[in-house]
Amino acid sequence: MKILPGPASKKLSEKIASLLKLPLLELNFKYFNDGETYLQIIGDVVDEEIAIVQTTAPPQEKRLMEILLISSTLKEMGASKVIAIVPYLCYARSDRRRKDGEVISHDITMNLFYNSGIDVLITINAHNSEAFLEAAPNMEKFDLNIIPFLAKEIKKHKNKEWLIIGPDSGSIEDIELASKILNFPYLTLEKYRNPDTHKISIKDTEIDCKDKDVLLIDDIISSGDTAIDAVKLILKNKPSNLIFFCIHNLASEEVINEIKELGVNEIISSNTIERIDVTTIDIANSITDLLEEKYL
Ligand code: R5P
Repeated sequence: MKILPGPASKKLSEKIASLLKLPLLELNFKYFNDGETYLQIIGDVVDEEIAIVQTTAPPQEKRLMEILLISSTLKEMGASKVIAIVPYLCYARSDRRRKDGEVISHDITMNLFYNSGIDVLITINAHNSEAFLEAAPNMEKFDLNIIPFLAKEIKKHKNKEWLIIGPDSGSIEDIELASKILNFPYLTLEKYRNPDTHKISIKDTEIDCKDKDVLLIDDIISSGDTAIDAVKLILKNKPSNLIFFCIHNLASEEVINEIKELGVNEIISSNTIERIDVTTIDIANSITDLLEEKYL
């Protein structure tokens, strides 16, 4: 197997290649004045299994298009298998039709991956694991859950009991898993999303977290509305310490600063999206473990 770094995930690709002692192909790319991407794959791919690593954080369409162009070209050049490692999978939240005529972007995106020649798709904490595994049925898929990974890190560095909080009922599986591994108590908040404006609000309730250490866990931060509302509510109830962990950190720097200024002690996210403004948990090992187990 050879590793091909996509334009958005160079560091993670290098880490994966180095951990597995696999050759790293070179991708020559540049952006034309009109924004289109020029791509050139350098190296021998004939009869080789190639793993492309490319996250699809904003600008999602560009990142997605680059994967499609690269995978089609790899197959055309004679690669025997194309494995796409897409640590953050875009459009995963548009996984069902809530109103007539709504586009189910997740399913279409998954079909695009498959039709571009991708044989295997690996992602980290897909927003809706069931929907992810059901889409594009002929493509092999793996949804890696890195919550156990986070739990290990928390245990290593923060040797005390934490109250784990999820911002909404959708976070229950992650929260329960973290709580089970760490043996910490947990609760979830109640979130409502207006179907027309998409604006969210978290129900104002009393939380029993006075003088406690709180770990707020969400799978993704995007606009930051969920995290900001949840953080405000938790802080109103006077915890002694609050850490916010999100797996996929798509928030702008302004949003991250706003959360820090509210009084959160630490923001931790994984490197499914590379960032320098928060504490990062490296998830490369979860990917290399899977590649070793299934393909090497
Ligand atoms: C919701 O279902 C997710 O778990 C996140 O809470 C949500 O998508 C975060 O998005 P935002 O930062 O835009 O509120």
